[in-house]
Amino acid sequence: MASSPTVFDQARDELVTIRDFFRWAASEFIAAKLFYGHGTDNPWDEAEQLVLHAIHLAPPLGDEWLDAKLTPSERTKVVANVQRRIEERIPAAYITGQAWFAGLPYVVDERVLVPRSPIAELIEKRFAPWLADEPQQILDLCTGSGCIGIACAHALPDAEVQLSDISYDALAVAEENIQQHGVTERVFALQSDLFENLYGQRFDLIVSNPPYVDADDMASLPEEFHAEPELGLASGNDGLDFTRRLLVEAADYLTDKGVLIVEVGNSWPALEEAYPSLPFTWVEFERGGHGVFVLAAQDLRNARAEGVL
Ligand SMILES: C[S@@+](CC[C@H](N)C(=O)[O-])C[C@H]1O[C@@H](n2cnc3c(N)ncnc32)[C@H](O)[C@@H]1O
Repeated sequence: MASSPTVFDQARDELVTIRDFFRWAASEFIAAKLFYGHGTDNPWDEAEQLVLHAIHLAPPLGDEWLDAKLTPSERTKVVANVQRRIEERIPAAYITGQAWFAGLPYVVDERVLVPRSPIAELIEKRFAPWLADEPQQILDLCTGSGCIGIACAHALPDAEVQLSDISYDALAVAEENIQQHGVTERVFALQSDLFENLYGQRFDLIVSNPPYVDADDMASLPEEFHAEPELGLASGNDGLDFTRRLLVEAADYLTDKGVLIVEVGNSWPALEEAYPSLPFTWVEFERGGHGVFVLAAQDLRNARAEGVL
């Protein structure tokens, strides 16, 4: 006896227009209780991204195209994207192989976190009002796909940018993005555990989105996060294993007027509690996000001299 058609078979055989597929995909995503937060925050945008990618288009799509019909092979590809998102529970960016950050496209896959840091907003504002002078030497520590450092290179065309990560896999993706963005003369990728291979270098700006998820949050992460490298997320019991090391060493790698900008997300209360006398400034974002602090090189040097670090 022939098996009954699945919802995916039915969609492939019966739906006709782009509008049909947007609506259907969004309904299926809602029914499947997917988690959003890797580039989109709702089922409609997620549907738009996956449907359009399958037919070589990108959002936003003009309304005049919504009632365009798909060919049979396009319908097959659209349904395959939607089916993977539901059955494998992987972020849409790993299906499309692309993520957007600070208005620019990046190649991504399972070797790197899907870019989503609120630091994008700071980059778009060229770090105003946090830097007195335009930075000439920038370090993107824990670079992953390279998104933060490469976006800095676009926003600050006179700066040289060093990308670093402990993971060779991540660096291979960052290298690909350096090439794709045509910034090979100003952006360089280096393997390093924290500052280990950066000895002797000084930066006007160190910017980092390091691993900072605490053990409680790691235990309750939605499935989509388990597709991402654990090395990019987990950082000990209180989420601060990496940040503690960074705070102790950063002063040695900053110029006198240098600034350190670091994302610690939900671990910010634990950080405040661990270092009550460090003068963290917490950035407020217009587009959402939290847990990004700014510290001046001098603050870090003072704290070290006083034995706080
Ligand atoms: C949260 S991901 C951030 C990736 C990227 N900056 C972004 O915003 O999408 C953290 C990155 O830190 C790297 N990492 C983890 N431990 C590290 C260490 N000890 N030294 C350098 N990089 C490290 C991971 O490989 C991962 O790529």
